[in-house]
Amino acid sequence: MSRFRIAPSILSADFGRLAEEVRAAERAGADWIHLDVMDGHFVPNLTIGPDVVSAVSRVTSLPLDVHLMVENPERFVEPFADAGATALGVHVETCPHLHRTLQQIKDRGLRCCVVLNPATPASAVEPVLPLVDQVLVMTVNPGFGGQSFLPETLPKLSRIRADLDAAGRPDADLVVDGGIGPATVEQVARHGANVFVMGNAFFRAPDYKTLVDQIRQQLENSPEAAPGHES
Ligand code: DX5
Ligand code: ZN
Repeated sequence: MSRFRIAPSILSADFGRLAEEVRAAERAGADWIHLDVMDGHFVPNLTIGPDVVSAVSRVTSLPLDVHLMVENPERFVEPFADAGATALGVHVETCPHLHRTLQQIKDRGLRCCVVLNPATPASAVEPVLPLVDQVLVMTVNPGFGGQSFLPETLPKLSRIRADLDAAGRPDADLVVDGGIGPATVEQVARHGANVFVMGNAFFRAPDYKTLVDQIRQQLENSPEAAPGHES
C-alpha cells in the first residue's frame, strides 16, 4: 500500500455543514482529517478549539491531525488529547523546550509532530528528529487557507527527508501544508513529502472523489515521486 496520504484541511470546509463535509471527505477516500487551531497571537486568525475536534471525532473514523498554531501549545495537549486527536503538531517557533513538549504529546499516547514556518531552517528541528512521528513543513506562512505555495521551501523538504533517514527515522511522515493541490503535489513528493494537507484544493473542488483520484494518479504516474517511499 502506498504511504502517500491525503489530508483535507477543514479550514476550507463549509463550517455550517461540517459533519457532512467531513463524512464526504472520508467517502471520497481521504486518509486523514487536518484541523487547524489558531489563537490570534502566533498567527493573525482565530479558528477552532477542542470542542470542534471532539465533534469531528464523532462523525469520522479517520485519524485527526491537529495543527496547533498557538503560543504556549503545551497548555493544550491535554484538552486536544481528550477531544480525540490522533496527532498533535506544535510549531518549533513556539516551543522553547521542544523535547519536553513533544514528549508530553507522546506520553499522552498521541503521534507527535513538529512544525516549521517557511523561514525556519531545517536545522531547527534536527535535534528532535529521533523523537517525532511527523515533521510538517509549512509551504505558506500559516494563518489562512488559499495562499500560494512558496517554492523556496522545496530544498528544505529534501534536507529534512535526508535528515530523517540519517536519524534512523525513514518511517516518519513528512507533511506539507499550504498551497498544495494538483499543480504542486508532484514537486513536493519529488522532494520527499508523503502527506499532503489540502484546504482550498480539496474543499473547493467540484467533486472530492475526482480530486482524490486525480492526486493519487499524479503521484503514481510521477516516476520520480518520493523514490523509495512507497511500500
Ligand atoms: C494554514 C493552515 C493550512 C490551510 C491550508 O495556516 O495550516 O492547513 O488550511 O490551506 P490551503 O491548502 O488552502 O493552502
Ligand atoms: Zn495546517
